[in-house]
Amino acid sequence: MTLSEPSAPPLTEVVLEAESLTKHFPVRRRVRDLLSRERRVVHAVDDVNLVLRRGRVTALVGESGSGKSTVARLLAQLYRRTSGDIRLHGESTTVRGGRRFRAYARRVQLTFQDPFASLNPVHTVRYHLTRSLRIHGHGGRTAAELERALHDLLGRVSLTPAERYIDKFPHELSGGQRQRVAIARALGADPEVLLADEPVSMLDVSIRLGVLNLLRDLKERLNLAILYITHDIASARYFADDTLVMYAGRMVEGGDSETVTQRPAHPYTRLLIASAPDPDRIQGSPTDAAAATPEDRGGGEPPSLIDPPPGCRFHPRCPNAMPRCLTALPPRLAVQGEPGHWASCWLYDPENTETPGSAAREVGAVAS
Ligand SMILES: Nc1ncnc2c1ncn2[C@@H]1O[C@H](COP(=O)(O)OP(=O)(O)OP(=O)(O)O)[C@@H](O)[C@H]1O
Ligand code: SF4
Ligand SMILES: [Mg+2]
Repeated sequence: MTLSEPSAPPLTEVVLEAESLTKHFPVRRRVRDLLSRERRVVHAVDDVNLVLRRGRVTALVGESGSGKSTVARLLAQLYRRTSGDIRLHGESTTVRGGRRFRAYARRVQLTFQDPFASLNPVHTVRYHLTRSLRIHGHGGRTAAELERALHDLLGRVSLTPAERYIDKFPHELSGGQRQRVAIARALGADPEVLLADEPVSMLDVSIRLGVLNLLRDLKERLNLAILYITHDIASARYFADDTLVMYAGRMVEGGDSETVTQRPAHPYTRLLIASAPDPDRIQGSPTDAAAATPEDRGGGEPPSLIDPPPGCRFHPRCPNAMPRCLTALPPRLAVQGEPGHWASCWLYDPENTETPGSAAREVGAVAS
């Protein structure tokens, strides 16, 4: 019998699952490379594992270029994966267009960051929603049934009274209203999974909360499994049940959102949190303000994904890097005493004997 640990909350049914999901994009060859046999690729997503559960929001957080949208597009089966598996209700699924793709899209819907670009400017709200309802077989058999379904959809995203919005063109709507129409269009499929790629990042700060509250409400009322993609880790705490952190194409930390955002384990997650706008810190002491300088945050650039660093991809920026981090890829390691919380970081290896920071190249960055 081992020491008893605090029990984790009961988990709901897994709807969609990715295992070792990998996507490498070929790099277009330049003339001088034509004689070389080497085929260069962008390692956009490497060995990603995640589960989306019914009635839960999972946030996927990371900075620009970390691979978040590629994960969403792979899960939506818009990209062919290089390797790995995607399981819908436990069943391995690969679809490439046609009827099987439509059947998959009925259950797994993706919304895009820029609703203006994803809605056709020459068509009205009615056209976009009717098309979605019809493609997915939810348009009813009569004009009256279709009209009812359209009103229902607009009601679900709180665009009421429906008459005010239904015959509008995208340019006649605000950013928040356009994003609501894009969400309504996704709901026209009556999906089980909603992959929301940066749903609020292009909206004014004042209306972001309304759209996030709408998504939370949909999760609860429709029991949706939601993947919420964002580079704003603060919003993950507010909105998501679980949080996954991605860096340079790999998952580096995961767990329930409260734990990951309040007690981040991975040095990269700590960096993200230190970089996030925090009203308390902005108004706080000069010492707090100084803590937000790029140097203290482990500044530097994300690595090239064509030739990513060996070992831990974060090691060139990590203040805790140890010699092993430069060559050995850290596996998912459990954070002791926190059920479900893990980090891909050698600091959490119970058998680690190296001193954190001992690989730092710069004098002064070496841990004392
Ligand atoms: N079609 C493509 N062909 C080649 N490289 C691509 C392609 N799509 C994405 N990439 C590369 O893959 C990496 C991950 O891109 P991705 O768009 O998934 O990142 P992201 O985390 O969504 O970034 P952002 O926050 O800016 O949206 C980037 O280096 C990007 O340049
Ligand atoms: S594995 Fe090493 S380099 Fe990577 S985050 Fe952990 S301590 Fe830093
Ligand atoms: Mg993206």
